[in-house]
Amino acid sequence: MSSLNQALRAALDHRQDLLAELSLERDALLQLHEAINQHLDLNTLLVYNDRSRGNSRIDREDSVYRAEDAALEDMIGHEWGLNYRVRGRHAGQDPLLFLDLRNARGWVKDHSAGKSVLNLFAYTCGVGLSAAAGGASEVCNLDFAEGNLAVGRENGQLNPQLPKMQFIQSDYFAAIRQLAGLPIIQRRHKLPSYPRLEQRQYDLVLLDPPAWAKSAFGTVDLLRDYQSLLKPALLTTADNGVLICCNNLAKVSMDDWREQVLRCAEKAGRPVRDWQVLTPGSDFPSMDQQPPLKTLILQL
Ligand SMILES: C[S@@+](CC[C@H](N)C(=O)[O-])C[C@H]1O[C@@H](n2cnc3c(N)ncnc32)[C@H](O)[C@@H]1O
Repeated sequence: MSSLNQALRAALDHRQDLLAELSLERDALLQLHEAINQHLDLNTLLVYNDRSRGNSRIDREDSVYRAEDAALEDMIGHEWGLNYRVRGRHAGQDPLLFLDLRNARGWVKDHSAGKSVLNLFAYTCGVGLSAAAGGASEVCNLDFAEGNLAVGRENGQLNPQLPKMQFIQSDYFAAIRQLAGLPIIQRRHKLPSYPRLEQRQYDLVLLDPPAWAKSAFGTVDLLRDYQSLLKPALLTTADNGVLICCNNLAKVSMDDWREQVLRCAEKAGRPVRDWQVLTPGSDFPSMDQQPPLKTLILQL
């Protein structure tokens, strides 16, 4: 067994009790649903997406776990006056809109008038949509997952009053290094094909990467190497522009990460003139005042 397999097995063994508790039993699920309906005075539709699979003790044949057709239909959610695609169940694991980023979307909507905006790791393009609603002169959404960009396109169509956005399906490193005028790093293997882009800068750039992801072009690793994500994003931000960067790793403290970010900017020749912390909304309380999602607004 490889060491990775061994580590994974040990990690799962340590979580056996927890995993058993994570499956909601039928009655507990129905009670929860009832309590939410009562509290909100609404008749909400129930969709239970159980991720525990092989470890689950629940009887999946019970119709409670199969959502009603109406609950699985495409719906529209609203935030800051915009429409978003909502699906109770879809191919991915995460909801189609990350709600802890709501304040960042609000900030972008308030600060993008007349700006060119680049939305990196765009997912379903909520930040791009907010920029378009805020009067951006152009909005470009970049992500390597066509399925996520497809939802971004739907979100655009759900807000027909807004100007059209651009979508680039590309690996982050391949795209950002071209935009920044840096060479694309060739590792051992031949690189997959990638869209060619001209070097250029944007007035407002959002960098909200996942905690970890590996591709032929590089590794996204927020714990060990935030710099290789940040440096090209800094170079792609215009003079007097704004770079909003995020780190969703709970174990990284804001103070340590901010130091790292400011040092990286200094070294890249793009020193930060001013910075501001943006915290998630009150529906994401943090007992220790250290919210897992950290957001810094950097004025370059
Ligand atoms: C945590 S989500 C980002 C959330 C997003 N910023 C938002 O506003 O909701 C991570 C996204 O990064 C994309 N992604 C991961 N690795 C990538 C890479 N190497 N290049 C481009 N996109 C990547 C995934 O497809 C996914 O859409």
